Amino acid sequence: MPERLISIEDLSVSFTTDEGQFKAVDRVSFHIDEGEVLGIVGESGCGKSVTALSMMRLVPCPPGSIDSGCILYKDRDLLTLGRKELQTIRGKGISMIFQEPLSALSPLQTIGRQLEEVVRIHTNVSAREARRISQTWLEKVKIPDAAERLHAYPYQLSGGMQQRIMIAMALMLAPDLIIADEPTTALDVTIQAQVFQLILEMKQARASILLITHDMGVVWDMCDRVVVMYASRIVETGPVADIFARPAHPYTRGLLDSIPRLGDGSGKRLTAISGNVPSPLDYPSGCHFRDRCRHAFERCAAEEPLFVEVSEGHQAACFIAGE
Ligand SMILES: Nc1ncnc2c1ncn2[C@@H]1O[C@H](COP(=O)(O)OP(=O)(O)OP(=O)(O)O)[C@@H](O)[C@H]1O
Ligand SMILES: [Mg+2]
Repeated sequence: MPERLISIEDLSVSFTTDEGQFKAVDRVSFHIDEGEVLGIVGESGCGKSVTALSMMRLVPCPPGSIDSGCILYKDRDLLTLGRKELQTIRGKGISMIFQEPLSALSPLQTIGRQLEEVVRIHTNVSAREARRISQTWLEKVKIPDAAERLHAYPYQLSGGMQQRIMIAMALMLAPDLIIADEPTTALDVTIQAQVFQLILEMKQARASILLITHDMGVVWDMCDRVVVMYASRIVETGPVADIFARPAHPYTRGLLDSIPRLGDGSGKRLTAISGNVPSPLDYPSGCHFRDRCRHAFERCAAEEPLFVEVSEGHQAACFIAGE
């Protein structure tokens, strides 16, 4: 049996804004085993980043509030830890590649300084050794002229390079869990492939990975299991091979139908799911997806569908799942 690394149980997060209060994450539960790559997929605004930020305890509160749940990591609930304990877990235990690279880099220090600091906070190496490690990692993420770049400030680098520096920062301590939130959106295709390759190398070294993406193609290439989120809730979860072979939730089927089919020569445009994601201030009753669902019937408005087990480890929250 694989060892469980982290379990998220019943996590709910809400925000209070000028427009009102809403749930961004609604009773979300999942786990990640050692050496496993778990994907979270879903359209913009469904709560992927907020889920990830909660695991690092980085949701800004206020306006956010964690209303329920626990996040069990090595027998401790991350939601109850103090600053000091969190500090030791962030970086070496769990590290995150953010959607916005500049949110992770300080504008006031050189790249070298920041990387060396990460190394030195968590290990006992000399300044010289920290510099050597930093340079090696810049080379690994394919930063040209790595030795020189150590003297640069973030604003002097392109978005793609900032992103790769943050990736180096997240990987260099060989953490148990790497949370990668859309890690390659700002990068061109060749560099994207190299970053995914690096992430897979971390997996081979027994790291667990939580990979957040919009793209079912990336899920297929990279992930062992996947969590599909829609409008703050998990709608389906299971092993990637099962979900692709037998998607049970109409939303998952919609996502799979919108994967671009490269090279089939048909030039067919992808079938996007019709309609829009509702505003979190105005989620429908019952099933959040029902407004966009071809199969919706009265019960979908009256009741929230609970998870049904479609096959081993594969669950979907839909009244007609598996039919
Ligand atoms: N700091 C914040 N203050 C107010 N609302 C927020 C904040 N952060 C996130 N939200 C809201 O919470 C909801 C979930 O956002 P989240 O960033 O998790 O979406 P996402 O699934 O990561 O989307 P994307 O694919 O666009 O990154 C959204 O409605 C978003 O506007
Ligand atoms: Mg996001």
